[in-house]
Amino acid sequence: MAEACTKIRLCSTDDVDWDSAIRVEEGDLILAVFNVNGVFYVTDDLCTHGPGSLSEGYLDGHTIECDFHNGAFDVRTGEVVTPPCMVPVKTYKVSIEDNSVLIEV
Ligand code: FES
Repeated sequence: MAEACTKIRLCSTDDVDWDSAIRVEEGDLILAVFNVNGVFYVTDDLCTHGPGSLSEGYLDGHTIECDFHNGAFDVRTGEVVTPPCMVPVKTYKVSIEDNSVLIEV
């Protein structure tokens, strides 16, 4: 049987410019919401390597480069693209409803 999930609204699709990101705090979660050519992805905002905020990093296609030590992740999967990051960043399942960006938790 599928586990029940809760959808949380993070922002409007209009809040995130194309090929950029915003930081959203929702309860205990601090998240980065990315808009890559009109497709939305959500990860934890905190870099797994240190204090970097991924929403303030440099987004190039699906790659987000942390502006602290230039490590990078794929926003689709959270996988590390460039060291010194070693640990993938958590990603969330995203859906769009009525121009809102939602995640499932
Ligand atoms: S804190 Fe992000 S690469 Fe070091």
